[in-house]
Amino acid sequence: MSQTPKKVVVTGAAGQIAYSLLWRIANGDVYGKDVPVELKLLEIPAAVKATEGVAMELLDSAFPLVKNIDITDDANVAFEGANAAFLVGAKPRGKGEERSALLQANGKIFGPQGKAINDHAAEDVRVLVVGNPANTNALIAMSAAKDVPNERFNAMMRLDHNRSLSQLATKLGKDSADFENMVVWGNHSATQFPDITYATVGGEKVSELVDQEWYLNEFVPRVAKRGAEIIEVRGKSSAASAASSAIDHMHDWINGTSAWASAAVPGTGAYGVPEGILAGQPTIAENGEWKIVEGLDISEFQAERIAANVKELLEERAAVENAGLL
Ligand code: NAD
Ligand code: LMR
Repeated sequence: MSQTPKKVVVTGAAGQIAYSLLWRIANGDVYGKDVPVELKLLEIPAAVKATEGVAMELLDSAFPLVKNIDITDDANVAFEGANAAFLVGAKPRGKGEERSALLQANGKIFGPQGKAINDHAAEDVRVLVVGNPANTNALIAMSAAKDVPNERFNAMMRLDHNRSLSQLATKLGKDSADFENMVVWGNHSATQFPDITYATVGGEKVSELVDQEWYLNEFVPRVAKRGAEIIEVRGKSSAASAASSAIDHMHDWINGTSAWASAAVPGTGAYGVPEGILAGQPTIAENGEWKIVEGLDISEFQAERIAANVKELLEERAAVENAGLL
């Protein structure tokens, strides 16, 4: 364990997602069990005391990999030398609200953080935006970080991906780990498109194992509205599952994937996703970079669903542009 510690920033460190996420990072679930970490906890001033309590509990957990814990309400301090950043700190929606309703309140958090990342983070920084609406918040942060390559900014679609795998595994009586080539396209919103066109399980095509009626009328809305269902049933937005998916995303980004994952990465023009938005796409990670899976045949139905997401993301972009946040 003689390596230089990796500096990992978690914003919203006193919140409910961080309360699960920090323990997984401390356990070595992002960089590996032999890589020490320094945790940098960013919060608003009113939550700094609560963050001190979180740090006390982290210390009490005696993780051998944790070499230091810093707490701050200053983004310029938090992102100094950061190798990985989980941008979680933002308001969650309430019952009956869409995530896009958070755009004005939360959007303003991400410009200053993007600028601080630009000015202070390490050269290899990777930024995963979790705070909602995640895709457009990631765009705001990415746009403020002019000197950081765009592809270092992602928004999280992995929770939607994992929800898809779990729903399919339950329906078909299989293990979630046995599914390949699942993708959730688009926005982390109710418009998202969980797509089983290419998915297989044990070498069989998933689309031939489930009927179309179940796929379209139960599976797709169940996955796309799962966040709202959790809020309804649990009374609070998803937290441990969000943290677990954030770990999956960052771990795979750094260490590589064996199967496709869904990640919201900057558009390249492929599959009708233009530059200037971040959308969920089929990705694999190699050598520390996400690569969009190329050359897939797209049906008219798929193209329509992807286009609906692109339209929504362009509308969100226009809204934050009008609000002066871009
Ligand atoms: P929470 O309210 O429990 O915690 C959020 C924390 O962020 C609070 O402690 C708050 O003080 C802090 N915060 C606010 N502004 C900040 C800033 N400028 N800098 C640093 N910290 C700041 O919320 P939560 O349940 O942890 O959820 C956080 C966000 O993640 C919400 O926007 C929620 O909707 C989103 N979320 C996204 C996904 C996803 O799949 N992308 C999944 C679940 C939740
Ligand atoms: C989720 O998908 O669980 C999160 O985005 C929280 C929410 O508001 O739905």
